[in-house]
Amino acid sequence: MTETNDMDLKQAIRKRRSIRKYTDRPIDPNVASELKSFVEECNGKSGLRMQLILNDKKGMSGLRSLILKNARNYLAIVGKNDGNLAELGGYWGEKVVLRATQLGIASCWFSMGSKKDLIVIAPDEKLLMVVAMGLPATEAKARSSKPLEKLYAIRDGGEAPDWFIEGVKAARLAPTANNGQKFLFTLTGDGRVRAESLGGAFSRTNLGIVKCHFETGASPQTFEWA
Ligand SMILES: Cc1cc2nc3c(=O)[nH]c(=O)nc-3n(C[C@H](O)[C@H](O)[C@H](O)COP(=O)(O)O)c2cc1C
Repeated sequence: MTETNDMDLKQAIRKRRSIRKYTDRPIDPNVASELKSFVEECNGKSGLRMQLILNDKKGMSGLRSLILKNARNYLAIVGKNDGNLAELGGYWGEKVVLRATQLGIASCWFSMGSKKDLIVIAPDEKLLMVVAMGLPATEAKARSSKPLEKLYAIRDGGEAPDWFIEGVKAARLAPTANNGQKFLFTLTGDGRVRAESLGGAFSRTNLGIVKCHFETGASPQTFEWA
């Protein structure tokens, strides 16, 4: 096993940051194939049709390249065009992001999309968003986070159990559009967890992403979403 494969998901959450500049080097074929099988596994579980597009120089060229430098690989998050797509795509897209992080691949959720030439989208489907992926050419800049206490509530005002706080801490490290962190986790009186979006751009996608982080941070504790 390589060092990166040894990274567990909680470490991946701490390591992951949005990277907007990538090297010319292609992703190692073994790593790419591992990531592709993971994408297929997630598609099988979610019903999405996420696609990992590699070595596409044109996909993010033009105006997009003002923000993303040398982005040639991306995850296209495609699924049934219904009311669930944004949250579902956020949740499963972030699973892929964390797996990529484990494999040493950097990423950046990107709302300006990509050219669609290489993406398969059926008439009843929609491209939710793309996530750029590649080998990092820079370190991430420092980012701010809201104080932990602003991100959760306890319904009965009691003491928060450790697993719940670990879940919130992991959600606090999640990517959200414009680093808005507009979400709230509430521990309900019956031990379930309610995840709420407090609005902002791409609110449902952000919610799916932070729920993915919360579950990973709270594990091995299992719980029900309220
Ligand atoms: C739904 C979503 C859309 C995003 N869109 C963009 C984008 O269009 N351009 C960009 O540079 N970053 C984009 N980001 C990345 C966020 O700016 C980034 O996650 C946030 O600033 C926090 O930084 P971090 O990911 O390094 O922790 C997006 C993130 C999310 C979750």
